[in-house]
Amino acid sequence: MIAASAPRSIAVVARRTPTKLSKALNYPTCSATCIGLRPFVVIQPIQPLASRRDFSSTSSHPKITEFFPAKETERVRRTPAAWPHPIYTEEQMRAVEVAHREAKTWSDKVALSAVKILRWGLDTATGYKHNKPMTAYHYLKRNLFLESVAGVPGMVAGMLRHLHSLRRMKRDNGWIESLLEESYNERMHLLVFLKMMKPGPFMRLMVLGAQGIWCNALFFAYLLSPRTVHRFVGYLEEEAVITYTRQIQDIDAGRLPEWQNLQAPQIAIDYWKMPEGHRTMRDLLLYIRADESKHREVNHTFGNLDQKEVRWPVAYTY
Ligand SMILES: [Fe+2]
Ligand SMILES: [Fe+2]
Repeated sequence: MIAASAPRSIAVVARRTPTKLSKALNYPTCSATCIGLRPFVVIQPIQPLASRRDFSSTSSHPKITEFFPAKETERVRRTPAAWPHPIYTEEQMRAVEVAHREAKTWSDKVALSAVKILRWGLDTATGYKHNKPMTAYHYLKRNLFLESVAGVPGMVAGMLRHLHSLRRMKRDNGWIESLLEESYNERMHLLVFLKMMKPGPFMRLMVLGAQGIWCNALFFAYLLSPRTVHRFVGYLEEEAVITYTRQIQDIDAGRLPEWQNLQAPQIAIDYWKMPEGHRTMRDLLLYIRADESKHREVNHTFGNLDQKEVRWPVAYTY
């Protein structure tokens, strides 16, 4: 639903969003923080891949494994994705940068403070520090937990706008689909990381608890001030870009040997339409980071707009 002319439209409307990012991508969609408790996940023994058709032959230590194998049935056929992902170029993904939108209003400051408190709480609880070396295992735990909660805001906001449209018998002007697409994209991030790590009972419990609190808190917050919630998500996505940028830098610096030659799982290759020769773990993180940067841009833009009357510019051609 997001038109090819998206970046230009966004740039016009969202002058206060990180400007370089607006130009960087044609359009993406997606947030972050971390976790590091030992019983969060169960690492499975490495299994050889059933097929290496889509993986590089340079992979000497395959670690992608099928924790939740699909049940094959005769009458079920695969259908295309509901929201096919736009194709990113290498140049667009490399252009993504860490950026911060200055908090200007009280609403912005409340949103930024909420993100800082949330981040501080999670980091303290899990012993995470930006300057502390992280292993692939710790990154996976963090990514898995965060992606499990990242898909909630778009769904809550989309649902509330959907209900608003029904209740007021008015058009929504393109916001709902964009929000639902964002939550779909975040869930795809989760499904990709689930190919690399199996959540343990404690992780599942944490996700359950987080979802119960998170979903309800967002529901009431969005009713009170949708602008603040979009700004809050925008700041969360800034953190996500930082997190994935650090992971890419760690691969480049050789600090994550497990990911050095690891190939992206098939689900990722299909979703992002990753070209042959660009299907490594590093490439995968570039795709995910680009998504997060677009979530950052989109939510800051939502936060800039009139919440009731303005058409979502990405859904229209001007
Ligand atoms: Fe995101
Ligand atoms: Fe994500």
